[in-house]
Amino acid sequence: MTTTGANTAFSDDIFPSYVRNERFKSWFKDIIALCKPERVHWCDGSQEEYDQLCEQMVEAGTFKRLNPELRPNSFLAVSDPSDVARTEERTFVCSRRKQDAGPTNNWMDPAKMDANLRGFYDGTMRGRTMYVVPFSMGPLGSEISHIGIEISDSPYVVVNMRTMTRMGRKVWDFLDGKEPVLCLHSVGAPLAPGQADSSWPCNPVEKYIVHYPENREIWSYGSGYGGNALLGKKCFALRIASTMARDEGWLAEHMLILGVESPKGEKSYIGAAFPSACGKTNFAMLIPPKGFDGWKVTTVGDDIAWIKPDAEGTLRAINPEAGFFGVAPGTSYDTNPNMMDAIRSNTIFTNVALTPEGDVWWEGMTPEPPPSLIDWQGQEWTPAIGKETGRKAAHPNARFTVPATQCPVADENWENPAGVPITAFIFGGRRATVVPLVYQAVNWNFGVYLAATIGSEMTAAAFGALGQVRRDPFAMLPFCGYHMGDYFNHWLQIGRSLPNPPRVFCVNWFRKDAEGKFLWPGFGENMRVLKWITERVQGKASAIESPLGWMPRYEDIQWDGMDFSSEQFNQLMSVEREAWKQEILSHEELFERLYDRLPKEFILMRELILSSLWRSPEKWELASERA
Ligand code: GTP
Ligand code: SPV
Ligand code: MN
Repeated sequence: MTTTGANTAFSDDIFPSYVRNERFKSWFKDIIALCKPERVHWCDGSQEEYDQLCEQMVEAGTFKRLNPELRPNSFLAVSDPSDVARTEERTFVCSRRKQDAGPTNNWMDPAKMDANLRGFYDGTMRGRTMYVVPFSMGPLGSEISHIGIEISDSPYVVVNMRTMTRMGRKVWDFLDGKEPVLCLHSVGAPLAPGQADSSWPCNPVEKYIVHYPENREIWSYGSGYGGNALLGKKCFALRIASTMARDEGWLAEHMLILGVESPKGEKSYIGAAFPSACGKTNFAMLIPPKGFDGWKVTTVGDDIAWIKPDAEGTLRAINPEAGFFGVAPGTSYDTNPNMMDAIRSNTIFTNVALTPEGDVWWEGMTPEPPPSLIDWQGQEWTPAIGKETGRKAAHPNARFTVPATQCPVADENWENPAGVPITAFIFGGRRATVVPLVYQAVNWNFGVYLAATIGSEMTAAAFGALGQVRRDPFAMLPFCGYHMGDYFNHWLQIGRSLPNPPRVFCVNWFRKDAEGKFLWPGFGENMRVLKWITERVQGKASAIESPLGWMPRYEDIQWDGMDFSSEQFNQLMSVEREAWKQEILSHEELFERLYDRLPKEFILMRELILSSLWRSPEKWELASERA
């Protein structure tokens, strides 16, 4: 339904009859008066609406329709070069008190921020359509789900939200007596009468991604890309939801959820947190390698998990999303065949390259690049040009948006409103040195400590210094909506409240040798580590004590179908005393920042690890003889 003429908005009949939520209605009147759109479109979430918006974007030059024979019902969008990733330095958590946002979030007084933002939003939708997007994070009607309404002036956002969330007319019927999260988004590019629109409108100068946790409101300005603009994802399902979870005794995490089933039919579910572009999507869709006949891995989610203790004290997890917004570069039939099958149709590609046949390509998709391409910035690209200039055909943070229903290994319970029972958590990062392939925390509290202090090299998923190691606690550094010290305490408290908390593991798929080559092949071969983890949880696999926790020996891992020597494995698993002392000492930096709210346990646990390192050999290695 479309209403023309912003002035009609001031009377109550702007609202379709199914819009009854009073909080939303009064907020909307304020927003429409502020943003001054040309038109209002109430999204119904239908296929027809999706198709129409896509067609409209094809005409506007935002979308290119891909060859229907090669990629049916799929589109390519290329963004402005200034708008390609999350902008963490422009992201704010405006809680009433500064100390509640904590030192890891940007903060401004909410009243000041509101006054500041109103200046930017004044008339920001002139000449544009305002879309009203009702959506549910989690299955509609589930006890664990929550509803949001996103107001946006970007049709690109609307079609992506339809894929990524349960979006549409029926959401309004589930809102009676509930408080929706109110989300406002503008690309920050009003149009004067007669002014031609650009194919990727955004504001190259000003960007603000602002959260008001107490009001459960999100105001995003100036960017049209990913987590900056699809507000159900990082803004709602992590930053706002993490504060709801703290208050209500649950967890909102940057985690994939997978199911793993042994040939005997024993099934377990695992949650795994890795920072952005560090392998969640790939791990969630892993195909067991040669030598693992009868093993199955199934996908519940690839990015976000909402996890609640049930009456029996089991942690149950849902995936609040309905689609995947996955990293394109590196995705191939070798690394992730399930995803390659998922994205054969009904997919939106952003910032990848275009082939002469009207299909897509990105670095790593095939061993050899095609002879000629149009790169993500619309320029001619050939392998020779690429070599000469170092220019990539696809942006390193190029992504695809695809419905989760197209995942060939979707778990049978992926939409179960009660969630799936979690028996283990895995934490990981991207570390070329220092960190071994896998180790198990000795107990829940140590697991919380290890997760809190994990480091990772920065990736293209956020604007910033690529490759630099930073502490990324729980892979939540950019996504925790409150004080990180309180967040650690919340995790400790959850563990205390459970009769038998999940086991905690750390992994690193990215360790390299002196020549810079990966020591571990990763991807499907990660199944070998996953099998050891599930069997540890069931009390079936052995391990030995290391300075960091429990570790598998060479013979504790199943090697059928893979040529990997015990020397190679020991190199991958070695713990170098001096490097680890430095690593543990560097935790000090995080501790100092969080000091006033840091769990007291952490200081003691750090001393314990240090003292066990002190007594370990210079290079601690797994040796089978020790068994
Ligand atoms: P976000 O969507 O940003 O949260 O990222 P993600 O954690 O889902 O990352 P994803 O699985 O998309 O992986 C990002 C990059 O890491 C891709 O280029 C992959 O090819 C690469 N990658 C994933 N798994 C592995 C692995 O086991 N080994 C190696 N070497 N690379 C991997
Ligand atoms: C991430 O950066 O962790 C993502 C992509 O999953 S975005 O939705 O842009 O945050
Ligand atoms: Mn992510």
